[in-house]
Amino acid sequence: KQMPWKKNALPSLPSFPVIGSLLSIQSHHLPHIHFQELQKTYGPIYSLMMGPHNVIVVNDHQHAKEVLLKKGKTFAGRPRTVTTDILTRDGKDIAFGDYSATWKFHRKMVHAALCMFGEGSSSIEKIICREASSMCRTLEELQSTAIDLAPELTRAVTNVICSLCFSSSYQRGDPEFEAMLKYSQGIVDTVAKDSLVDIFPWLQIFPNEDLRILKQCVSVRDKLLQKKYDEHKAEYNKDVQRDLLDALLRAKSSLENNNTMTQDVGLTDDHLLMTVGDIFGAGVETTTTVLKWSIAYLIHHPEVQKKIQDELDSKIGMQRHPQLSDRGKLPYLEATIREVLRIRPVSPLLIPHVALTNTSIGNYMVHKGARVIINLWSLHHDEKEWKNPEKFDPERFLDEDGNSLSSPSASYLPFGAGIRVCLGEALAKMELFLFLSWILQRFTVEVSPGEPLPDLQGKFGVVLQPQRYKVNARLRAGWKQI
Ligand code: HEM
Repeated sequence: KQMPWKKNALPSLPSFPVIGSLLSIQSHHLPHIHFQELQKTYGPIYSLMMGPHNVIVVNDHQHAKEVLLKKGKTFAGRPRTVTTDILTRDGKDIAFGDYSATWKFHRKMVHAALCMFGEGSSSIEKIICREASSMCRTLEELQSTAIDLAPELTRAVTNVICSLCFSSSYQRGDPEFEAMLKYSQGIVDTVAKDSLVDIFPWLQIFPNEDLRILKQCVSVRDKLLQKKYDEHKAEYNKDVQRDLLDALLRAKSSLENNNTMTQDVGLTDDHLLMTVGDIFGAGVETTTTVLKWSIAYLIHHPEVQKKIQDELDSKIGMQRHPQLSDRGKLPYLEATIREVLRIRPVSPLLIPHVALTNTSIGNYMVHKGARVIINLWSLHHDEKEWKNPEKFDPERFLDEDGNSLSSPSASYLPFGAGIRVCLGEALAKMELFLFLSWILQRFTVEVSPGEPLPDLQGKFGVVLQPQRYKVNARLRAGWKQI
């Protein structure tokens, strides 16, 4: 076995003092597409300098799995950046928190709390169906007009997360909800810019409009989170657990009764607040975006939409609503969701990982502190793994007779993998399945005659989003109120 120090240096982009490889990574392409293109010159794995930081870009599944799974713990760090420090009170959350005993404990606790919502009257399924039903009613009212679905989808997904975290949800037009949408958008817009302050923290001494907006939005968010937190603390009853915040308070209080542990893991009020902030941050924009991509692709591919509806009609009919237990019966819909997650991964560069020790990837040495970007876009569009990767084809996820799901390639990781795998994967999959099946059972989505089809290129931000588009949701013939 080769020792890390016997390994080779990575192919690297030209680098200049102070600015690093910034000049070579300026491109009119979206970053993930540019990183994919650079493979032609440098191979599937290469390094570059972003300011003072050594960044390694991985574009193939073999190396990606070595980083995420085989050496998951070695690469479990996260970089600290100016923007994420503002967002997470210096990394006291899960997504941007560096690997540590506190982080490990914290993640485990949230995972356990999320798992507890499987069953019962406040089960995730019931919450999602309630929101799906309310969204379908709104779509029915707006039927004959071309509408931007985005606010409706955002409200439905936000309400699921709000119910889960705080047992509250919002009607259309609620001022607290509008405030929440506004600050979320502000955070998404400013964190997304990957601004130069993250590369050169000393730039902070100059006024920076984005940072100012970010700080302001974070402070509005924090006030709202604090209010919910204070309410929950005041009403706390160890025998009743209404939501995630109650579950976290209970875990914290049982730790405190066992006080040796608290000191070791240091779970403060800030940690719990930032966790809830994380679940909003990671849970709303991502899921909403996948729904927007799904609808956009279904408009482009009416034949796919028709097949999903035929499947829904024959397996469920119109007398009842779809439920989670129907998932196994609707392979074509599941295959479509998988294909959307492949062709437009919402998080095409995952979240950067950091090497915690000197190590290696493949035959290349990697120094402690190097940042590793897994280019999921390259994995999902690798021509060696996927036939005609830009073609939208749900059938690639079905076996030959079309009746059951298959995994055509290992080059597919929409939720990441290993110890940093998405914490909300199960929740997200339930939401995608239920929202899409409810919508398509009742409506056909299409653009009005003469209107342009949605753009499928996407714009890069915190997540890869489609451009805004308008649709008509037309009530299907044969649908009767149930
Ligand atoms: C992390 C995808 C929905 C919570 C991630 C990562 C990806 C991802 C690719 C990064 C993995 C890495 O850095 O290696 C998605 C997709 C979603 C989705 C495609 C929707 C379809 C959600 C939801 C939640 C959530 C609903 C809320 C519970 C998180 C958290 C992390 C994360 C907390 C950070 C995990 C860590 O750093 O340890 N997600 N996600 N995600 N996701 Fe999701």
